[in-house]
Amino acid sequence: MTKQASESRAGERFSSTGFIIAAIGSAVGLGNMWKFPYITGKYGGAAFFLVFIICLLLVGLPVLLAEMAIGRGGRGDAATSFRNLSRNKVWSGFGFLSIVGSFMILSFYAVVAGWTLKYGLQSFTGSLYANPDYAAVFGAYAGSLQPIAWQALVLLLTGWVVARGVSGGIESFNKVLIPGLLILLIILMIRGLTLPGAGAGVSFFLEPDFSKLTPTSILVALGHAFFSLSLGMGTMLTYGAYVDRRQSLGSATLAIGAGDLLYALLAGLIIFPTSFAFGLEPAQGPGLIFAVLPAAFASMPLGAFFGGLFFLLLAIAAITSTVSLLEVSVAYSMRRWSFSRPKATALTATACFLVGIPAALSVGGPLGDLVIGGRTYFDWLDFIASNIILPLGGLAVTLFVGYAWKRVGDEVGLSALWFRIWLILVRYVAPVLVVFVFLFSTGIFRVLFGWGE
Ligand code: PFF
Repeated sequence: MTKQASESRAGERFSSTGFIIAAIGSAVGLGNMWKFPYITGKYGGAAFFLVFIICLLLVGLPVLLAEMAIGRGGRGDAATSFRNLSRNKVWSGFGFLSIVGSFMILSFYAVVAGWTLKYGLQSFTGSLYANPDYAAVFGAYAGSLQPIAWQALVLLLTGWVVARGVSGGIESFNKVLIPGLLILLIILMIRGLTLPGAGAGVSFFLEPDFSKLTPTSILVALGHAFFSLSLGMGTMLTYGAYVDRRQSLGSATLAIGAGDLLYALLAGLIIFPTSFAFGLEPAQGPGLIFAVLPAAFASMPLGAFFGGLFFLLLAIAAITSTVSLLEVSVAYSMRRWSFSRPKATALTATACFLVGIPAALSVGGPLGDLVIGGRTYFDWLDFIASNIILPLGGLAVTLFVGYAWKRVGDEVGLSALWFRIWLILVRYVAPVLVVFVFLFSTGIFRVLFGWGE
């Protein structure tokens, strides 16, 4: 790294708790609050949740530690860190690919985050409950031009945080909102658990029935462990570059994993009891939150208030994740083109907005009928980023720390025993399982064995 680059990065550091909170902010997002409940509903309830925890421990956490170590060891953006650690260009090529992937995720994730902001506002004002056909209301909104404005608002907020820098922006923002999120989750969990009939939802979520597990559900859980911990996209690597050398990455890994799991658990303890109490079907798929849950809020006392809190909570969780996604491209463009942070932020957020416009219009909107190869524009962005680039990025991380980076032991700082266990997991277990996820999520397993949706 040049002297100038290291000086310009001097103010760009996390405090040790700030880093853990910001990384939890990245991990906890729509994946926990929106995707996790409906895939749990669809793929086996409590048994699925248990498999998800095992995947988190065996693959998610070891890869998380690996990504953060590359960032801190390489002290650069997601491509440069690899280059600073190895002369072989293949690795920085994968790093660059993950930057492209995070940009693509951000462009459609901001659209969904925009829906949550709009729903939150409408719930507080009560207008969300004017027409009880919630599926039709959601369809009409998603089919209009409005989602573009909400997507723009999400990117403006995200850009505002990122432009203020690592400690003054990202860290300060997360330090306020992540504890705030916990309070909101607890309030809504108490509300959900005290509804009459909530018990059925709790047993669905927490009492495993292993006969419900299939190879498909195991692979979905594995893929979700990656998405949920924000792996394979350069985010944890980029955040890792701002961590102090003295901080223990091993303890940080455990804290981030525990945080991600806790927030997913709380989200499940809100959504399942609330849905069951009102006789709603939890295996509804992506529409669960927007098209189904408003019916529950509409029929509970102070429902507009609780519904508003719920969608606000989703929006906060989403924006602490979009901040980490935008930072990946911002860090890269600051280094690549020597842009100032505000300029890099303005340009990348604008580019992301433009790439995301067709996504905002393709969920039942004007571009909804433009289906190529069975997928809309939105679905393609999600498919390429989450199903192809994410496993490839994760694989590159495990192979790099497992086989190419000889001095990784100095960086991770684990005790001898834990280091040996970790090395076995990143060398042998994680790569094999990531290849499975790749074959599954790209549809290759479906062709071969019929595993898949
Ligand atoms: N982990 C986030 C969630 O669960 O919603 C999503 C995410 C953020 C994925 C950042 C990937 C990423 F790089």
